[in-house]
Amino acid sequence: MKIIIGSDHGGFELKNELCTYLREMGHEVEDAGCHSQSSVDYPDYAFPVCEAVAKGEFAFGILVCGTGIGMSICANKVRGIRCALCSEPVSAALTRKHNNANVLAMGARIIGKELAKEIVRTFLSTEFDGGRHENRVNKISEYEK
Ligand code: RB5
Repeated sequence: MKIIIGSDHGGFELKNELCTYLREMGHEVEDAGCHSQSSVDYPDYAFPVCEAVAKGEFAFGILVCGTGIGMSICANKVRGIRCALCSEPVSAALTRKHNNANVLAMGARIIGKELAKEIVRTFLSTEFDGGRHENRVNKISEYEK
């Protein structure tokens, strides 16, 4: 699967760990930065990641900042993006099943690395349920037009 991942300084370490984890799982990973612990602004990373996903260049995007909140706020401003901020795997599974989320946001200051990996694994391996949920997701797309 082609995945693009981005972070600010708050998520830098976890983002790097997730890059390695995803590559070990056999995914093709584009690291959109940031590339050091120096302070940066999360919108500068959230928007390019989400635009690439919205254009269909990647199957999914993953965003990490300190809380995951700033990243998720930015992500959900991009047309075509349905971003879920997840701190446990149940939400990660349900947002794929019910919302067909295409971007996952996480907070590196909120969850540990092993939990983050489990959330990522669950998110990527869960399919959209469709059915009654399709109609609801379509209403989001209609609103965006
Ligand atoms: C950066 O200090 C922090 O504000 C950022 O990583 C994120 O938590 C914002 O939502």
